[in-house]
Amino acid sequence: MLKNDLLLQALKGQPTERTPVWMMRQAGRFLPEYRAIRSRYDFLTMVKTPEIAAEVTIQPVDILGVDAAILFSDILVVPEAMGMPLSMNEETGPSLGKGLSSAGDIEALEVSGIERRLGYVLEAVHLTKQRLEGRVPLIGFSATPWTLMAYMVEGNAKKGFPKAKSLLYGDPGLSRRLLEKLTDAVCTYLEAKVQAGVDAIQLFDTWSETLSKDAFLAFDLPYVYEVIRRLKERLGGRVPIVWFFKGCASSLEEITNVPVDGVSLDWTLDLGWAIPNIPKRLAIQGNLDPCVLLANKGAIQKEAERILAKVNNRPGYVFNLGHGVLPQTPVDNARFLISFVKEATQRHP
Ligand code: CP3
Repeated sequence: MLKNDLLLQALKGQPTERTPVWMMRQAGRFLPEYRAIRSRYDFLTMVKTPEIAAEVTIQPVDILGVDAAILFSDILVVPEAMGMPLSMNEETGPSLGKGLSSAGDIEALEVSGIERRLGYVLEAVHLTKQRLEGRVPLIGFSATPWTLMAYMVEGNAKKGFPKAKSLLYGDPGLSRRLLEKLTDAVCTYLEAKVQAGVDAIQLFDTWSETLSKDAFLAFDLPYVYEVIRRLKERLGGRVPIVWFFKGCASSLEEITNVPVDGVSLDWTLDLGWAIPNIPKRLAIQGNLDPCVLLANKGAIQKEAERILAKVNNRPGYVFNLGHGVLPQTPVDNARFLISFVKEATQRHP
């Protein structure tokens, strides 16, 4: 059914005719076509209107020629569907009100029926799949339980998430209760997304970077493990699952024991060191510093070549950034990167 399934082949560890490439946060403000729609609607209206979400999801496929679409949405629709007030502020970013403080706040979170309250996301998946006509796979995503907890306790993206981390250390029992509820919510949500038609799943664990190794192993990894275990149990190997984390170099060995299909690495991790330490059964995605795209084409080519040399034709590799594309990125630079990776990795018969 898919005309281009390079991403899915690579995530299965199969050799591909060239390296697939896409960019985290590729549907967004750096594209003038996104900003044109955004000038007419607020962000959450765009997220909740399947027609608009589908259109914005497909923009980078048309404009940049990436090998995957990622559904336009946000990680914070899950806390909203559990009962928290979500708003998006131009200057300060997303807000979830005062954040969770008490056991009562956590008990009040509603998991049951979450897939119905997120029906607009599932509709956007249907519509996007229809409109893509099999051109490229569609990636569905969720944040991990810890990354959701960080926002939900803090109420916003305060640097370092001090309130959320003080709950982890001060009341590990209550923290686990919240992480378990989030595990249930994330599993139900992602299973529904797969039933609706997504071809792959990415778990965003952006705030893993705030945790010590011990806290990561106690409060983040086990819940990611459980999400993946349950999804594999319920869906078999139907869709590959990729885990994006940040700043977890010292936990790489533990991470590679999780039954995930691929890991998405940030730019602080050296691929030359990481590749020999990652079992062949795992695909690797990443890890260009998004700031490289703010420089010039010569620098972009040099940095992309540096990564490709380290990858050295390892099967099961997906070119991507080490984190999301920045809003100030020149579109021409992004387009140059995508076509450079495609040409440089094309294997001629
Ligand atoms: O990757 C894609 O193109 C799909 C869409 C997508 C968005 N958010 C759209 C968005 C994805 C995958 C996300 C995930 C997300 N959201 C994460 C995890 C990945 C990461 O980048 O770390 C996080 C931490 C968030 C929370 C969030 N949403 C923040 C902090 C902000 C404001 C700052 C920012 O990065 O823009 C948002 C808003 C948001 N989400 C925008 C977009 C396009 C910008 C909103 C606008 O148009 O004003």
